[in-house]
Amino acid sequence: MTDLSNAGTISVAGRTVPRFGFGTMRLTGPKIFGEPADRDECVAVVRAAYDGGVRVFDTAWYYGPDVASPIVKDALSPYADDVVFVSKLGGARTDRGGWKPATSPDELRAGAERECRLLGVDHLPVVHLRWMPGGEADFDGMLATLQSLVDEGTIGAIGLSTVSLEQLDAVVAAGTTVATVSNPYGPGNRDDDALLARCGELGIPFLPYFSLVSSQQHEALDTVAQEIGATPSQVAIAWQLQRSPVVLPIPGTSKTAHLAENLAAAAITLTPEQVEAVG
Ligand SMILES: NC(=O)c1ccc[n+]([C@@H]2O[C@H](COP(=O)([O-])OP(=O)(O)OC[C@H]3O[C@@H](n4cnc5c(N)ncnc54)[C@H](OP(=O)(O)O)[C@@H]3O)[C@@H](O)[C@H]2O)c1
Repeated sequence: MTDLSNAGTISVAGRTVPRFGFGTMRLTGPKIFGEPADRDECVAVVRAAYDGGVRVFDTAWYYGPDVASPIVKDALSPYADDVVFVSKLGGARTDRGGWKPATSPDELRAGAERECRLLGVDHLPVVHLRWMPGGEADFDGMLATLQSLVDEGTIGAIGLSTVSLEQLDAVVAAGTTVATVSNPYGPGNRDDDALLARCGELGIPFLPYFSLVSSQQHEALDTVAQEIGATPSQVAIAWQLQRSPVVLPIPGTSKTAHLAENLAAAAITLTPEQVEAVG
């Protein structure tokens, strides 16, 4: 039985949730393209995450594409009231599995409708403006379209992803409420320390992505892991939880054994010396 109580709770778009989420991007084939090798296992992973206390599921229609979100639907629908989807718009896939921006009003609207259909919902509680330069619309244009979707009731709240500190500050200064921020971050990638600090000042939940993959060569994790009899992934997750009270980890996995290991990391409390040693 997992216990996420040590991780505490956080408010995401007005919903109080355990401070431990799940990222669905790995519920796909290699390179986030096509069906996963074992779909039944992936459905079981998502169900086990919910049963283990996770309520925030970070997903996107373009994982697969059209693969990860239907797995979430098969695992969890009919949905309990406490499930909080955090989706994202701004990207799309090429026929060969590459990534491309999709930022125009039509593309963003079609993406929101597609995600709703895949998840089997008519409302997305939080949607990240996933900044990917090079599309038809610029950042402000994307924000305007997402705001329209909020006004129309398709989206509950807007988050920002893969943004700079300057972009966050500009959006906040313009009076837009930012529900969440999600950037690459972890013990092995501290590029956004300043952005995380600003999220802390503003009380905005920060969802680090690539937190495990960017920490694979981080030797300090191995050292601390050996010291406390945990795995490096567990130490990376425990470190995130202690790094800042606004961090909401969203580790991704396609395996129930890894999911159990990751959830168990919530119960680990690193000493200040161990936190310092990791990063
Ligand atoms: N906003 C954005 O633009 C954006 C971009 C990328 C990702 N994301 C979100 O962030 C989430 C997290 O990022 P991520 O999934 O790319 O990377 P991640 O959480 O850093 O790591 C996932 C990888 O680590 C492996 N893993 C997980 N738990 C493990 C464990 N206990 N032991 C060993 N290996 C383990 C997984 O493989 P197995 O499947 O074999 O466990 C997978 O390959 C994504 O799922 C997605 O929802 C958002």
